[in-house]
Amino acid sequence: MEFEAFQSSLADPAARRSLLFRDGLPFHVLLAHQFERPDLEALCDTATAIRRLDRHDEGRPFLRGVLAERRILNLFAQPSTRTNESFVAAGEKLGASVRVVSDLRTSSFEKGETVEDSVRVLSSFYDMLVTRHHDDDFAARAAWTLSRSRRPIPVISAGSGRSEHPTQALLDVYTLRHSFAGRGGIDRKRLLFVGDIARNRAIRSLATLLLRFEIDRIDVACPKEHEPDRTFLRPFEERGVTVALHASVADAIRAVGRELDAIYITRLQREWDGPDVKPGTPEPFVLDVRHRSAIRDDCVILHPLPRINELPDAWEDHPGFVVWRQVRNGMWMRAALLATIGGAADEIVALAGRLGL
Ligand code: NCD
Repeated sequence: MEFEAFQSSLADPAARRSLLFRDGLPFHVLLAHQFERPDLEALCDTATAIRRLDRHDEGRPFLRGVLAERRILNLFAQPSTRTNESFVAAGEKLGASVRVVSDLRTSSFEKGETVEDSVRVLSSFYDMLVTRHHDDDFAARAAWTLSRSRRPIPVISAGSGRSEHPTQALLDVYTLRHSFAGRGGIDRKRLLFVGDIARNRAIRSLATLLLRFEIDRIDVACPKEHEPDRTFLRPFEERGVTVALHASVADAIRAVGRELDAIYITRLQREWDGPDVKPGTPEPFVLDVRHRSAIRDDCVILHPLPRINELPDAWEDHPGFVVWRQVRNGMWMRAALLATIGGAADEIVALAGRLGL
């Protein structure tokens, strides 16, 4: 199968499942919406089991054996400290050794080697490949190449261009599920997304995962020039989910403030605007503390980080502020994903159960 055919097959749910899963388990992780609701529930349960086992004297050494002798390569062509370190910590908690290549100028990509050849070479030394790249198709091309090779290894996207950030979406779902545990879970919750919807891959991936839940509407506050495009909107239209656009945070909060169960705020993705453009979020897309009295105390406040000025420190004592928990959850969720790909999730959940965790 040619790459173009591989890629267009990913739009079809059955073909997607057969290309990205093996024996019912995720193999390549390219798209947030490759996960169905039961997959999400299982990943969240595995993340919780790992989190609890990691604090237990018998659990910790068990976890260190899950991916022992396995080697993971983080191939990060875009700047990242937190996502990279989160994958390193996740892999190490499961006993894997993780190596990071982030300066691709020192690799043969710089000499003009194709993606196909580079990943085939690298796959010879590793058991899993985690990639972050400014090109939307890099991870998919790597997965396609390896699927056709004699030594297929899983490829996990840790951020693909402007389009996809599936592991961020998984950790956000995990954080939301935990935050809404006493309130009936994610179903029927009202979320407001703030920022650069057209170019923020964290929002795009999380929004598509929300379609796995019973959601009637999402609200979006974004600059006119970065409004959601057709690709973003189509699945919502198909499901009859309203996407309500607002011209500023103030407008959104005036319209729906007290109905909101969560606000997911992001920076504007200025890096796509050229080297001279300074980072920073204009006032209409800043969550000013003056909005505090207009939202409920149990409204959950999330941010994928890095934040610039759009989420002031003064929010940290809001009861719904979970940004640092998101970071920690990223490590547990990525460990859950690696363990699931490695076929160890059932054993992990069973041990946590046996130990009464
Ligand atoms: C996001 C990313 O890189 O896409 N950050 C992250 O992974 N935590 C969001 C961003 O860069 O704004």
